[in-house]
Amino acid sequence: MKFRSLLVWAFVPTLFFSCNQVENSTGDHPIFEDTPSGFLEKQYEFPYPDQHYHWYELGRKLFYDPVLSLDSTISCASCHKIDLAFSDDSDLSKGIQGKLGRRNSPPLFNLSYSPSYMRDGGIIHLETMPIAPISDSLEMGITMAQVNLKLNSHAYYRSRFSELTGKDTITDRDLLLALAAFQSKLNSFNSAFDSIQTGKQTWRNESQRLGFEVFKIKCSSCHSLPLFTDHTFAFNGYFVSDQGRALVTQKPEDINRFKVPSLRNISLSAPYMTDGSLGDLDAVLTHYQSLANKEIVNLDPRLKSMSLSNEEVFQLKEFLTTLTDYRLTRNPYYSKPDYPFKK
Ligand code: HEC
Ligand code: HEC
Repeated sequence: MKFRSLLVWAFVPTLFFSCNQVENSTGDHPIFEDTPSGFLEKQYEFPYPDQHYHWYELGRKLFYDPVLSLDSTISCASCHKIDLAFSDDSDLSKGIQGKLGRRNSPPLFNLSYSPSYMRDGGIIHLETMPIAPISDSLEMGITMAQVNLKLNSHAYYRSRFSELTGKDTITDRDLLLALAAFQSKLNSFNSAFDSIQTGKQTWRNESQRLGFEVFKIKCSSCHSLPLFTDHTFAFNGYFVSDQGRALVTQKPEDINRFKVPSLRNISLSAPYMTDGSLGDLDAVLTHYQSLANKEIVNLDPRLKSMSLSNEEVFQLKEFLTTLTDYRLTRNPYYSKPDYPFKK
């Protein structure tokens, strides 16, 4: 098997990156940045590192291609939109035939660093993850066998996969590998906050700086740095009619517990909470503020003494804006590719 030299990519115009120095110690490709120092260890590594770029390219096409749904109307990107940090702006996303899903579509980034997926952590491997949306009758509504048939009758995908695998037919695993190759590269560690942490930039105003101080005391026990989640499951006092983590563990104490979501790119991923019922950050912060006056059974102990003044709420909001990473959302390597084929 022969692969095009990765060197080609050194000459691709750095369109969007013009204002940000591309850090890339290997000289291969901007999306193949090393994990920044101080970041956590990866939970997922693509199994064929030498071929990763080529699998990523195919995965990117498939992510944007409605071919993966029963009636070819819904792609992964229908519910995971790049400009929204790969989340969706409706509370519940629409799948095939306008069917409404059960949970709010979360943003997608730093997935290689996550030990579990879904709001209840029910999936623990990045490669098996897409089976859930593909086969969910409310999302893409198609069996893996049907997808496999569609892909194998698709001349373009067949020849591209065969270049990579040396085989004539595409297997389920090939599809899942390609999607994992793309998704594992959706990294987000280039926000203003990251530049401030490494001394390349300063806080834009005093409220942002003070907001970070409030955050460290009141929020970071769960939304812990650097990913802004500790990957645990917690009940943050906001009720949604969903059993949450208990669906996975069957333990009564896990009812209402959900994965602590990362707060990176939080300004882009409204609406919030598992059911998408809080429309903006004001509503979320009002919820946390209201905990001071309520007795909530099973509230996570880390929130028991929560109190937030209006000034602190303002400062927190200012701070949270620094977590937006335009190198994720305006990255030409993550956006919808030009298809070299007609459908
Ligand atoms: C109809 C909307 C919809 C489509 C289409 C869709 N997703 Fe999702 N996605 C969701 C929702 C909703 C969740 C949260 C589900 C849950 O927690 O039970 C989710 C969760 C995820 C997660 C877990 C994220 C995390 O942080 O836990 C990943 C990864 C993901 N989707 C990738 C994909 C891929 C890849 C595709 C295409 C094969 C896809 N999705 C198609 C709505 C969608
Ligand atoms: C006990 C752990 C814990 C603490 C402390 C905590 N949170 Fe959360 N937070 C959660 C959990 C769990 C969720 C997800 C709830 C759900 O999915 O319905 C969440 C959700 C959020 C969301 C919505 C994210 C999304 O994508 O839907 C925001 C914003 C947020 N928290 C901000 C904060 C801020 C700001 C603080 C400090 C004032 C804070 N949190 C303190 C556990 C915590």
